[in-house]
Amino acid sequence: MSEKQTYYITTPIYYPSDNLHIGHAYCTVAADAEARFRRLEGYDVMFLTGTDEHGQKIERKAIAAGKSPKQYVDEIVAGIKDLWKVLNISNDRFIRTTDDYHVAAVQKIFKMLYDKGDIYKNEYEGWYCTPCESFWTEHQLVDGKCPDCGREVELTKEESYFFRLSKYQKALEELYEKNPNFISPQTRLNEMLTNFIRPGLDDLCVSRTSFKWGIPVTFDDKHIVYVWVDALSNYITALGWGSDDDSLYQKYWPAQVHLVGKEIVRFHTIIWPAMLMALDIPVPEMVFGHGWLLLEGGKMSKSKGNVVDPLVLCQRYGTDAIRYFLLREVPFGHDGIFSNEALINRINSDLANDLGNLVSRTLTMSEKYFGGKIAATGASDVLDDELKVLAGDVVSKYTGLMEQLLFSNAFSEVFRLVSRANKYIDETMPWKLAKDEASKDRLQQVLYNLCEVLRIVSILMQPAMPDTSAKILGYLGVDEAGCEWASVNSFGATAQFSTSKGEILFPRIDLEKELDQLEADKQKRAAEAAKAAPAAEAKDTAPAEITIDDFAKLDLRVAEIVACEIVPKSDKLLKLSLKVGKEDRTIAASIREWYKPEDLVGRRIIIVANLKPAVFRGVESHGMLLACENSEDDCKLVFVDDCTPGSQVR
Ligand code: MSP
Repeated sequence: MSEKQTYYITTPIYYPSDNLHIGHAYCTVAADAEARFRRLEGYDVMFLTGTDEHGQKIERKAIAAGKSPKQYVDEIVAGIKDLWKVLNISNDRFIRTTDDYHVAAVQKIFKMLYDKGDIYKNEYEGWYCTPCESFWTEHQLVDGKCPDCGREVELTKEESYFFRLSKYQKALEELYEKNPNFISPQTRLNEMLTNFIRPGLDDLCVSRTSFKWGIPVTFDDKHIVYVWVDALSNYITALGWGSDDDSLYQKYWPAQVHLVGKEIVRFHTIIWPAMLMALDIPVPEMVFGHGWLLLEGGKMSKSKGNVVDPLVLCQRYGTDAIRYFLLREVPFGHDGIFSNEALINRINSDLANDLGNLVSRTLTMSEKYFGGKIAATGASDVLDDELKVLAGDVVSKYTGLMEQLLFSNAFSEVFRLVSRANKYIDETMPWKLAKDEASKDRLQQVLYNLCEVLRIVSILMQPAMPDTSAKILGYLGVDEAGCEWASVNSFGATAQFSTSKGEILFPRIDLEKELDQLEADKQKRAAEAAKAAPAAEAKDTAPAEITIDDFAKLDLRVAEIVACEIVPKSDKLLKLSLKVGKEDRTIAASIREWYKPEDLVGRRIIIVANLKPAVFRGVESHGMLLACENSEDDCKLVFVDDCTPGSQVR
């Protein structure tokens, strides 16, 4: 490459709503591997990631946490940045959609689209899925629920601005036709055509008025910009588009690839290019929709309590092992299953056995027979030629596969070379050569070839395992030039290796013991979490959200306990005689374990007064009292002794 070509790659920007799990890390690690590979090849790379911080979902979570939305996201974003550090993510920029420059540029985009007539005001009536921040028409719902995540949708009716998406239908079809890789892999293109393009595009609602946490529309401040318009714009605003200094935008746009999960391909391949066309901005070269990392029971989710924490995995097995597993285990583009067993097996077979053995055998023999100084002697054999040819073939296949983001296949190529080199040791039997003084040159040539293989393997593995690669190159004593991409095809170019014996790179893991240990840790963590944060746990398993109208159906009242007695033949129930304003009533409550009748008389509590009456052990119970279940063996009534009996609680 005479003049450095640019390569701009992005991940989605993440919602800072919960801790990110291994599924989120999957996408970022893949983007990182590609960014590192392109840098290695000599590209001038811009690698962008960030956080998508506006929207109703975040606003609601912040309210629930008793924080302002900004305060809420600040804390989570700090954790996300830390996670990317642990995973050794080499992003060049990190954008937050709450950053000033982004807010200003999005406002500019919205105004430009409005001035152009591509955004107009109307009324929106339809369904909204808050977790996905997506609008749906009646016929798109599946059993009345969100077709993407299967959760409840809300009927929304508000005055809104609309983007003339329908106007770009034809232009989008032409874009896909002229650029068959624009939507990759091919299956995603088919999904888009069948599910969205062929049924016909509707104009898109692009502003909201029913909540506040978003970017205000400058010319109508009742409205905020729809979160997906805000989020998608990050890919150009991060480069300074629309600001005083747009040099990065001039240099890097259009992007070579937006890497995204399959469920958000439609935003990136329909809404985003249509917005860009409307703004007269070139579209990106490719949107690659990868599959999901699933668990045996389905998708990971906090409510199912089955999320896999990448931090825990990195601490236990090392960052490089996790990065390698994510890239190698599942062909990129397909869905795949994560399991501890698959992870441990992969570490054992590829890293501890194949790579680890090759490194340790080579370095040990180099040290033992030549004091670590290895140079080519020319005492070659036909086996050497075979090894050299294979190395060349692996490099060329690997390069093609990495350029197509086919990580798993690319790294499988590298391990073809690793396995061949291990076999080469068995075939050449250096320990036998060492016994014969006349074979010394041959022995040194064999070790030289092995060092060359390791040098090449390290360069090729660098996008997946940067630290391990650097370690191996260090143990080989390779100079800077020998670590560069330009030298990956020059088998035999190294003048001399000065090897040193390093640590064991990937200790073998005892699968059974490790699985038992992981299960025991899981049980322990669950028990500790239940003990330490019963309230938080209760929140996690809370029923679905309700509307204010649902809440208004409850008649909550203050009641005074005027008498209290044990219900015969029941070891749980107490009968409470209550005064609710002028009205008398009784409630049977399962609180005998925690309260003596005499302790309750005269106290005031809150009851649900309009609960349908029922009879328990012969006692008519009309209403339900509010109590806090601190844990399985601790329950406290909510006392409101200075409130007036009969008054309403809202
Ligand atoms: N904020 C939007 C993206 C806006 S981009 C302009 C969003 N955020 S997200 O945090 O919900 O998801 C970010 C990415 O993580 C998505 O690409 C999504 O597909 C990916 N993943 C989330 N769970 C995943 C798995 N279990 N497996 C693989 N990827 C998954 O969407």
